[in-house]
Parts: sequence; structure tokens; C-alpha cells
Amino acid sequence: MNILLLGSGGREHAIATALAASPDSDSIFVAPGNGGSAPGVHNVALDQLDQAAIVRFAREQDVGLVVIGPEAPLVAGVADAVRAAQIPCFGPGASGARMEGSKRFSKEFMIRHDIPTAAFASFTRIPDALASLAKTGAPLVVKADGLAAGKGVIIAQTLEEAHAAVLDCFSGRFGEAGTTVVIEEYLTGPECSLLVFTDGQYILPMATAQDHKRALEGDRGPNTGGMGVYSPVPIVTEDEYAQMLNCMKLAVAGMRSEGIDYRGVLYGGFMLTPEGPRVLEFNARFGDPETQVILPRLKTDLLTVMRAVAAGDLGDLQLEWEERWAISVVLASAGYPGAYETGKAISGIEDAEALEDVHIYHAGTRRTEEGLLVTAGGRVLNVTALGTTFVAARERAYEAIELIDFEGKQYRRDIGLRALAGRSAWE
Ligand code: AMP
Ligand code: GLY
Repeated sequence: MNILLLGSGGREHAIATALAASPDSDSIFVAPGNGGSAPGVHNVALDQLDQAAIVRFAREQDVGLVVIGPEAPLVAGVADAVRAAQIPCFGPGASGARMEGSKRFSKEFMIRHDIPTAAFASFTRIPDALASLAKTGAPLVVKADGLAAGKGVIIAQTLEEAHAAVLDCFSGRFGEAGTTVVIEEYLTGPECSLLVFTDGQYILPMATAQDHKRALEGDRGPNTGGMGVYSPVPIVTEDEYAQMLNCMKLAVAGMRSEGIDYRGVLYGGFMLTPEGPRVLEFNARFGDPETQVILPRLKTDLLTVMRAVAAGDLGDLQLEWEERWAISVVLASAGYPGAYETGKAISGIEDAEALEDVHIYHAGTRRTEEGLLVTAGGRVLNVTALGTTFVAARERAYEAIELIDFEGKQYRRDIGLRALAGRSAWE
């Protein structure tokens, strides 16, 4: 089967790699893709939001499955267009993607379906939002309603910061995403992601994973798209896991009851508070970089799972997982998440990949016309390693990182350390 995968990050390289390993996959077209490769994988210059071009390409190339990686095409309804053309698609339509595309929609949905989440209020007018601050007090969390690539969430420790965050949100900086603001209760505890495959009725949970969102060691500095991740998350208790899974079941059942036909991945971002797990957010897709530790641990054929999801036929499948731990460290360009330079030559990937149990996923890379691999983004590479113990996986990942070089390479050396230290590290 030929497959069209939309996206260009480390997540998409991990998905393409897993699909390429399937006995049933032929050509895998990645639009637009990056410098990463896998057998049978070809980059194509297609606009991820151009529905007509995507459908035309899929027809011309006899594509049997379209897989949508990032949130923007999902929120824009690309999956609806693909399905309308009778092409199976992995990824929810616009109605389901609102779970990620509108924080207000998603919070109101959680209230309707008794899914535990931070208390909140939403506002479309500055004076109302500011008036509410005085009543609630700090700390609190101010969020732009729409997609803002992780930059629309501000944790305000004081009322002054909250005030500034509200004005910033409405300043026009986030465009349409900032015309509604959500103000939330501030929660504390470790974070944990639980992603599930769902065909709109059945769900198959994936392994838990924990991202490191801050740029600097010790969880300091600005938020990023994610600097490192590991799976599974050892500090989660059985009881917490059961509660998280129940939230995911409530969400899928809730969408079904509201007539949303959701086929793809539902990503639950949780905070494990002293009162139990609370949903911070839902995403309508695989996480990045969570996918880069989840898929290397999935033993079941990914294409089989994705086809069943797209066909609405997940009921009979079971997932098999590697026992081993996985950790992935992001190598970023100097300056990220602020301004950074690109075009720096990357060396050592082959040596790093030659190490046992190491996978290098490309994120912001590209090949020049001469075939040279250079940096092309903020997050450049994801270095994933598997190990029979958490410590072994960590050591292997950092060993691989030593072998890779590019000008300005920066990374966090503390990925996974808190998990090793145990629950008390979050108190
Ligand atoms: P979101 O995009 O809504 O997941 O928020 C991004 C990040 O902001 C989360 O991963 C948390 O680290 C933090 N965050 C979001 N909501 C809250 C909250 N209610 N309390 C504390 N931290 C939060
Ligand atoms: N790693 C967080 C996300 O994909 O949204």
C-alpha cells in the first residue's frame, strides 16, 4: 500500500520509520518531510493545508491511507476532505480536532463529560478577563484559546503577570487564536501524557510518556516544543493510570455522544496533582517528541493499527509493547526557542546510529542539493535509545549524542533525572 504522511518533524520521521518497517507498505510519501530517510520514503513538496492538492496527489499515486501528523491540517479539516474523496484517513476531522484547536471548546467539553480538569473561565473581552483576575488571585494560568504552537500558555505567579498576560493575549500577537482567553486554576505535580488510538468507539492505550517542556536544565527557562522525553513513566501509580485511562474513555465516549466521528490519536496531557490526575489539555494527534519514544517500543505493526483506526474497525486489535525503556533527547540549534541560525553541517549520525538500540529521528534537518545534511530548524534531531533499565537507556542516548556534531548544538543533560529521583523530585 502507498501512504501519504503530512508533516515534517521528528514525529513524522518516527511514524515514517515505523510504517516503512511494515510488510504491507510500499511507497511512503512525506509532505513536506525533512532530511531523515527510511526505505521507501520519499519527500514531496505538497502544501499540508491545500486540500485539493492533497486529494489529487493521493489519487494520482494510488495512496491507500493518508496519515496526518500535525495539528494545523487537522484543525483545518484536511481529514474531512480526504475522507470525502473516499480515501481512508488517520486523523480526526475538524469537529474532533477542536479538542486541540480550541481550549475553550475542550474545557467546556470536559465539564459536560465530568472529566477532571483545572477550574477555568473564558473571556472574549479584556475588562471581563481583568475583573476576574482580582477575584481569583495568583498564581494562575492564562491561555490563548486557539493554536499557538505551545507559546500561548502563560503561568502567572503574580496578578501583575496575569494582567500583562491577558493584555498580551488580546494584543493580536496570536491572531485569531487570541480572540478568546481561558484563565485557569494553577495546578502542581508531575506531568504525564497518555495517548490512545481510537476509531471513535474503541480505544487502545499507548505507553505513558513524559516530555520536558522547558528549554533549560532543572526545568527552567522558556517553554519549548519539548526538549526530551521518556517512556514509560515510572512514577505513575496503578491507581493514577486507571484514572487517566478513564478520562480518555470518557472523552471518546463523550465525542461519540456528540456525533463526533474521531479516528486517530487522542493525546491526553495530565498533571498528577495531590487530588488525582487532571487533564491539562487534549491534542488531536501524536505528541512530538512523545512519538519518538512510543513508536520504537510498539511491537505491533503500525500500519495495521492505522488502517483499522481509519476503517473504524479497532475492536479486534491488541497492542504489544517492548519491555525495555526508551528515552529521547532533543538536539537543538543555539538560540532555540528564540531566534537561531540554520544551514550548519551535521556530522556523526551514521556513527551514532551504529550503536545498538539507538534511533536518530530527524526534526529540523534537510539535505542540500549536494546531498549534505544541514540544520533547518530549532529542534534538529531526536536521539532515542532503548535499554533494559532506565539508566541504561539514558546512558546509551547520551553516548550517541557525543558522536553527533553541528555548530551550536545544545541539549539538556538532565532528561529523565527527576524520574530516577522518584516522586519527591516534584515536591
Ligand atoms: P497546555 O498547552 O494547555 O498543555 O499547556 C502547556 C503547559 O503549560 C503544560 O504542559 C503545563 O506545563 C503548563 N500548564 C498548563 N495548564 C496548567 C495549569 N492549569 N496549571 C499548571 N500548569 C499548567
Ligand atoms: N510534546 C507535546 C505535544 O506534542 O504537544
